[in-house]
Amino acid sequence: MENLICLRNIVKKYYIGSENELEVLHGINLDIREGEFTSIVGESGSGKSTLMNIIGLLDRPTEGTYEMKGIDVDGLSDDELSDVRNRQIGFVFQTYNLIPRMSALANVEVPMLYARIPRKEREEKAQHLLEMVGMQDRMMHRPDELSGGQKQRVAIARAIANNPSLLLADEPTGALDSKTGQRIMDIFHRLHEEQHKTILLITHSQPLAEETERILTLKDGQIVGERVGSGSAGSADAEKAKISAKDVPATEKGDSSHKEAASFHAEHLGADKTEDAEDGIIFLELDDKGKMREEEAGHAD
Ligand SMILES: Nc1ncnc2c1ncn2[C@@H]1O[C@H](COP(=O)(O)OP(=O)(O)O)[C@@H](O)[C@H]1O
Ligand SMILES: [Mg+2]
Repeated sequence: MENLICLRNIVKKYYIGSENELEVLHGINLDIREGEFTSIVGESGSGKSTLMNIIGLLDRPTEGTYEMKGIDVDGLSDDELSDVRNRQIGFVFQTYNLIPRMSALANVEVPMLYARIPRKEREEKAQHLLEMVGMQDRMMHRPDELSGGQKQRVAIARAIANNPSLLLADEPTGALDSKTGQRIMDIFHRLHEEQHKTILLITHSQPLAEETERILTLKDGQIVGERVGSGSAGSADAEKAKISAKDVPATEKGDSSHKEAASFHAEHLGADKTEDAEDGIIFLELDDKGKMREEEAGHAD
């Protein structure tokens, strides 16, 4: 299989104050082939999220090259990057990052809205995706009416809405108890096995990492280890993974705030584009059930 992404000598420095620079990633080399299920483990502060933000085109490296599907992404403008991000990359976070006022269905529709998918197609696809993750009974519920595991199912459905090439998950089970976490993991296994998705999973959980095909260890901003995991051995069959929403226990650990959360809607979903009045504005209007009722206006083209 071909390389989906190819990182060479990626360095990331943060500039904190005038003289102080903090080098967080020290020359990362990483290839991920299409269809691979890879995990990254490493202590807190080792640079996992920084690396994921670069791979997810949310941040640019200070040095080094990054090719996605053979295209040098360093050369793309910010607008082009957000377009590639919207179409090629799906994000799943520890804290779900769902839009609070919106139903599960509308949340899943959002990336498709930014990709200008017509309303009917969007709704049907969102329904289908929610069924796939076992959330067919909770489509009109808002995030605060869902358990952590249920919210993460919705977030996964949203992440794959535009059929991305790469699914990036940053500690997706970090806020869940281990049983609920395993069920979320089972969904990733299904996406990998049945839909051949390329998945990069960041996790603190050694047992979950073991279930992936390839385990990378990040330490102090460097990849210090790589080994083969058991791949699909820990996966559940489709029926086991597709538990109906009401069977999912409502247990979850407290939401820790995530530094990505604030910029999520603006950046991850390509929303920054909609702020440009000359480019076209999308007005999101919700009815009293949190269902999406959008109007589009302001198209320059
Ligand atoms: N925007 C930032 N400015 C300065 N330092 C940062 C920034 N983001 C992350 N860091 C630092 O980079 C290091 C790696 O952080 P991070 O990638 O979030 O680690 P991990 O996800 O492995 O816990 C930490 O020391 C963190 O404090
Ligand atoms: Mg992190």
